[in-house]
Amino acid sequence: MHPSRRYYLNALGLESWVRRGGAPGGSAEAAGVAAAAADEIADPAMKPKSVPAPAAAAPTFEVPRDWAGLRAMVKDCRRCRLCETRTQTVFGVGPENAPLMVVGEGPGADEDAQGEPFVGRAGKLLDEMLKALGRSRKTDTFIANVVKCRPPNNREPAPDEAESCRPYLEQQLRLVKPMLIVALGRVAAQRLLVTDTPLSKLRGALHHWGPEGTPLMVTYHPAYLLRNPGEKAKSWQDLKAIDRFLAKPA
Ligand code: URA
Repeated sequence: MHPSRRYYLNALGLESWVRRGGAPGGSAEAAGVAAAAADEIADPAMKPKSVPAPAAAAPTFEVPRDWAGLRAMVKDCRRCRLCETRTQTVFGVGPENAPLMVVGEGPGADEDAQGEPFVGRAGKLLDEMLKALGRSRKTDTFIANVVKCRPPNNREPAPDEAESCRPYLEQQLRLVKPMLIVALGRVAAQRLLVTDTPLSKLRGALHHWGPEGTPLMVTYHPAYLLRNPGEKAKSWQDLKAIDRFLAKPA
């Protein structure tokens, strides 16, 4: 087995499934999923279908075009009710010219306390997923969220809250200009792609975002994977597709 392949399997807790032919807990169904994922990933000809970018909605307010101005505006933002319950805003982290930009849903309790996205349990898994791609938030991946303030009790951001924050995320995407955007989970995917299509139907395709049609792929949110470890095989499949895309010459 190729070392990088072994790394994916290890990082996502899949190695034992594939080797033993059974999932943790021994379900034959999960073993089948893992095996199917492994076969599919092994096929280098597998190409995701390409979906054009949705029409861009007008920004609801003007944001600074530079990083310092944008950071300052986000820090003091009071545009929606989330500002009343947050400890601090969570802007984003990573190199400002990263080739990969990952977008999650919104800060949780740990992120609200520390001011950095994905630092809790889901964040540790995200870091593992990035490591499996040979990447990290320190070197080449910018991480941001749909909303910059923690929704109380970790609830999903309401549509009006996500809409209030949209100009910030859009400006981050324009400034980073990544080679690839990865939407983590349904909320990020549906907001970025302006759709109600379920996550299951958005995975596996090459979408596009914004006027330049920046490539965008969709995968499971790490918090969902922590709750549903049986889906890790499919997440691994997505990671391989992301890896193949990023490895392509520009
Ligand atoms: N979940 C998210 O979507 N974002 C975070 O920053 C942390 C958890």
